[in-house]
Amino acid sequence: MKNAFLFVLSKEYRTLPLAELEAVLSVETDFDLWEAKENLAIYETSRSGSKFLSTLAERLVLTNSIHRFVGSCYLEDLEEFLETLPHFEMPFRVRVHLYEGKERTEMLEREVGGLISGVIRRWGKEPRIDLENPRTSIEFFITGNEVYCGFKIADIEKKQFEMRRPMRKPFVKPVSLEPRIARVMVNLTRTKKGRILDPFCGTGGILVEAGLMGMRVFGVDADREMVEGCRRNLEFFGIEGEIREGDARELERLFSRNFFDCIVTAPPYGRLSSTRGSGIEELYNESIESMERVLKPGCFLVIAAPTDINIKTKMKLIEIHRQRVNRSLERNITVYQKVKGG
Ligand SMILES: C[S@@+](CC[C@H](N)C(=O)[O-])C[C@H]1O[C@@H](n2cnc3c(N)ncnc32)[C@H](O)[C@@H]1O
Repeated sequence: MKNAFLFVLSKEYRTLPLAELEAVLSVETDFDLWEAKENLAIYETSRSGSKFLSTLAERLVLTNSIHRFVGSCYLEDLEEFLETLPHFEMPFRVRVHLYEGKERTEMLEREVGGLISGVIRRWGKEPRIDLENPRTSIEFFITGNEVYCGFKIADIEKKQFEMRRPMRKPFVKPVSLEPRIARVMVNLTRTKKGRILDPFCGTGGILVEAGLMGMRVFGVDADREMVEGCRRNLEFFGIEGEIREGDARELERLFSRNFFDCIVTAPPYGRLSSTRGSGIEELYNESIESMERVLKPGCFLVIAAPTDINIKTKMKLIEIHRQRVNRSLERNITVYQKVKGG
C-alpha cells in the first residue's frame, strides 16, 4: 500500500465521523490508519483511483474534505519541508487551517505561498497562483506545533441534505430522521448495494437515503398512515420501494429468512412515536430477534435506540456511538453483525 489520504472530519457527533469513514473505506479498499489527531485522520489505502475517490466523496457525510497526504513536520521545520514538496499542477493556491484559534491565517497563507513560489522557481518553473480556480490547492493543518500537508481532492457536498430535510418532503411527522444521520447509519452497514430493510420505516427517512445510494429498499410500519406517507416520500425522490403494513416483531411473516443485506432502523423511542401497546424494551428485543432472522449471516444491523434500553441479542456487537438528539434525549447508534451460521 502506497497511497496516503488525509481526511478532515466533521467535529459533530464525537465518534461517528471516524466510524463512518472506516465503515465506508472497508467496503472499498484495504486500509491502515496512520494517525488520527484533532479532526484529522490519515490512512494508507491500497486503492487510489478517481473512481475510488469519487465513491468516497459521494458516500461520506461526516467528512468535510479529502486530501492526498503529502507529509507532516514541526512548525519550525516548515521551510525545510516545503523544499521536499512533490511536483504539482499549476496554478496553485495555499490554504492554512489553524486549530488553536491563532489569527492571521491569510498572512500565513501569503507567507507560505511565497516560500512555495521560491521552491517552484528552484524547479526551473514560473509559479502561477489562482485563488479561485487552482489546479492544486495545497492545504496546511496546524495543530499545536505540528503541520500536516495535503493536496485537496474533494470537498464533501452538504447542500443535498438541506434539500431533503423532513420539512421539504411531502409527508412529514415529528419522528422523521434527519437525512444526514440516516445516511451515516446506512454507511455503517458496510454495504454498497443489495436489499436494505427498515422495519420501523415511519416517513422513510432512512429508506430515501438508501434508495438514493442505489440500494433496493424495503420498509415495514404498523401504522397505515406511515406506510402510505413513506410510499409518497419515496415516489417524490423517484425511488422504487416495497413498503408493507406489518409488525416489526413478525418480519418472517413478510420476508423469507436471510433475505436482507442490511437492516437500518430507528424504532419508537419515547413520547413522540407510538409503541403500539408493547413495553418499549420488549418491543426492541422482540423486533431485533425477528430482524436477525431475515438478515443474511455476516451482515449488519444498525439501530438507533434510547440509551437506557437494554438490548439482548445473539448478534455480535461491533460498535456503539452515543448521540445527543436534543436537550432531553440521548440515543445510541449501535452496529451489530449477524454471526455466520446464526
Ligand atoms: C421513530 S419512528 C421511525 C422514524 C423513521 N426513521 C423516519 O425517518 O420517519 C417509529 C415508527 O415505528 C412504528 N411502529 C411502532 N410499533 C411498531 C411495530 N410493532 N412494528 C412496526 N412499526 C411500528 C411507528 O408507527 C413509527 O412510524
